[in-house]
Amino acid sequence: MNDAEILVVGANGQLGTALQEKYPGAKPVDSAELDITDRQAVESFDWSNIKIILNAAAYTNVDGAESVDGRVASWLVNTTGISNLARVSSEHDITLVHISSEYVFDGNKDNHSEDEPFSPLSVYGSTKAAGDIAASLAPKHYICRATWLIGEGKNFVRTMIGLAQKGVSPAVVNDQVGRLTFTNELVRIIDYLLQTKATYGTYNSTNDGEPASWADVARLIFTDGGFDSQVTDISTEKYFADKPDAAKRPLNSVLDLSKLHQTGFKSNDWREDLNTYVKKELSK
Ligand SMILES: NC(=O)c1ccc[n+]([C@@H]2O[C@H](COP(=O)([O-])OP(=O)(O)OC[C@H]3O[C@@H](n4cnc5c(N)ncnc54)[C@H](OP(=O)(O)O)[C@@H]3O)[C@@H](O)[C@H]2O)c1
Repeated sequence: MNDAEILVVGANGQLGTALQEKYPGAKPVDSAELDITDRQAVESFDWSNIKIILNAAAYTNVDGAESVDGRVASWLVNTTGISNLARVSSEHDITLVHISSEYVFDGNKDNHSEDEPFSPLSVYGSTKAAGDIAASLAPKHYICRATWLIGEGKNFVRTMIGLAQKGVSPAVVNDQVGRLTFTNELVRIIDYLLQTKATYGTYNSTNDGEPASWADVARLIFTDGGFDSQVTDISTEKYFADKPDAAKRPLNSVLDLSKLHQTGFKSNDWREDLNTYVKKELSK
């Protein structure tokens, strides 16, 4: 695999930044350089030397997607944009790596496998599900399904550290359960699938480790960071009671990692990666 044949799309987001670090010889493009919603721009892009598209571009504002403008933007980027990338991938014999989300499910199952039928609760989840369908039409595709992504950017861990540094003890939902996915781990999975030429298809792609609620994750952040802040448990229903415009979220975000592990990939525990991440944040 030659880095120079890789295009990182949406290169300045959380995942895009980690992909750029992993593949310094790859070509990174942000939305100004390649707007994936612009069919003509995508089709006229110079694909001659590209063998792999790593697509980190997405509309990720879950609550924003419920608004009138957000609904349009979410469908444009997460679905129309992916169909544009899938089309050029087919036409130019390119491998398309795309990132999905557990928001394509309603969270009613205990452990989501890759072949669970879609059941999104929100606009964001619906557009991601439709994007998965579009990506799957590229003959050579990997759809890596992640949850609770943490990397370089605005994320839950940074929010909790920020609150603790201000001496705030927050109320955090205790009935949404899942695992963090660190961008470094997601990049390791993507690289492993590509390097080992794993069978094309969808792979649940999170860190491993005992799942926990957001409230428990927050407690761990405060412990790892040596903060005095305390977490008050609150149900999702109560937390969102005064936020009528918020998107509905799946309560169970735990993805079954059996298929990934059958490829031989050895996962990192999210608690260990969290400890490293918190220490690194505090040493900045
Ligand atoms: N965040 C999570 O908790 C989470 C959980 C599960 C799955 N995921 C999935 O993981 C992937 C990466 O998420 P992330 O957190 O790294 O996202 P992010 O930080 O929000 O970054 C998204 C990137 O997409 C780019 N983008 C938006 N519209 C674009 C367009 N029309 N054309 C080209 N680029 C465009 C943005 O670039 P500009 O700023 O230049 O517009 C931004 O750099 C996404 O597919 C997301 O759905 C995320």
